Amino acid sequence: MPTPFGDVYSTNITPDLETGIGRYSADEFVRAVQKGIRRDGADLYPAMPYDSFAAMSREDVLAIRAYLLAQPPISQPRPRNILPFPFNQRWTVALWKLANLQTGSFTPDRSRTAAWNRGAYLVEVLGHCGACHTPRNATFGMDEDHKLAGGTAGIWHAFNITSDKIAGVGGWSNEELSRFLKTGAVPGKAYAGGPMAETVMNSLQHLSDDDIQAIVAYLRDVPTQPGDEKQPRFSWGNAAAAAADGDAGTEGMTQGSGTATGDDLYRSLCSTCHGANGGGSPDGYYPSLTRNSTPGAATPEDVVMTILEGVKAGEVAGRQSMAAFGGWLDDGQVAALANYVTARFGNPDLSVTAADVRQMRAGTTTSQTIMILAAQSLVAGAAVLMLGLLLLLARRLRRGATSARLMFAHRDRR
Ligand code: HEC
Ligand code: HEC
Repeated sequence: MPTPFGDVYSTNITPDLETGIGRYSADEFVRAVQKGIRRDGADLYPAMPYDSFAAMSREDVLAIRAYLLAQPPISQPRPRNILPFPFNQRWTVALWKLANLQTGSFTPDRSRTAAWNRGAYLVEVLGHCGACHTPRNATFGMDEDHKLAGGTAGIWHAFNITSDKIAGVGGWSNEELSRFLKTGAVPGKAYAGGPMAETVMNSLQHLSDDDIQAIVAYLRDVPTQPGDEKQPRFSWGNAAAAAADGDAGTEGMTQGSGTATGDDLYRSLCSTCHGANGGGSPDGYYPSLTRNSTPGAATPEDVVMTILEGVKAGEVAGRQSMAAFGGWLDDGQVAALANYVTARFGNPDLSVTAADVRQMRAGTTTSQTIMILAAQSLVAGAAVLMLGLLLLLARRLRRGATSARLMFAHRDRR
């Protein structure tokens, strides 16, 4: 899992005795999930979203344990995390927990319906939507004052999903929102790519309709949050031009600020599926890039990441996957394509450079690099302060010891 601090590997949670969770007692397992404490007492990195799971009921944690224990054990040690100093020091996690971990179980709000409360539990706890969709505060905890206002998942931007009409999903109907959670595809609004495709494929598609509706009921009630968007993400792109064929499409080709290489690349690599005018395949088999929240977003990361990684949609509701182009194209070509796609079919204010793409490939963005530097200097500052205090304390103790010795000496003489 790429994090702003480096790569953290998730651990083996099969019942294997040596490399998995085979030796965890029920209590130890509950403690790991709710409090982020490993069996040996070490703190787990919050890449495992135990700040969301803290409120999970013991009953649910044990049900998950029972399921895991029924899986075949697999012996596989986890690779070493790739974290720079000081984040390779687990004690930094203790500091993080102090600032950000709230323990305590989920308490239903009696003034709300059962569906609302179920939705709250699914969104806040089990589904940990906020781990990706809530922005992080200065100590990298979830900023609860801006709940679900848009956050990050690796390089991907997880959009604002409050009901703000411009920045959020206020312009979606409840039915569209439900369909998105269940299938990841709502033509005219959005397709789930990257980590959201995984979320739909691995978990949300399996929820009952009641649970999906409970999530929607709760989401609709989360306070709206404004954002940088000038118009809804899904509203960009000329639908009429996209629907028209032939001439209208070619005419559109010369418009927009896409570079010649972007144009050439799009025509040879993308138009077979997404259409020359970005309208998708006529039968809707391949998605339209106009009226699509990814090219219409206020940030270009998700378009670049889609080109680099493709879309792994699984076989959910007949959706198709898209191949990854990252291995074929250089940074300049990816930037040209991304600029072409956003200029013609999405938010024309966006632009990326080859250098931006290089950073995203490496797993960081400029803002993340700045955040790491800031955090490192903060931790370094704290360490210097601690050292200073320790020296002072040592000095005091020594002086105390000396005066005690003098006192004894005095007494002896007496
Ligand atoms: C692992 C990170 C992650 C988790 C967990 C997650 N999401 Fe997402 N979500 C994303 C990303 C990234 C996108 C944007 C995907 C794209 O660009 O195609 C997204 C997109 C969405 C969208 C589409 C918004 C738009 O305007 O296009 C909705 C709605 C959504 N998520 C709802 C949820 C809900 C509800 C949950 C919890 C049940 C959830 N997500 C959990 C990462 C996540
Ligand atoms: C073989 C067909 C095919 C080709 C070629 C193709 N795509 Fe896609 N594209 C898809 C499919 C399928 C999806 C995802 C549909 C879904 O999520 O249900 C998709 C999704 C997308 C998305 C939206 C992702 C999101 O998260 O919403 C973008 C942007 C995109 N493609 C851009 C491109 C670009 C740029 C190229 C050329 C480099 C390209 N595609 C080439 C089939 C294709």
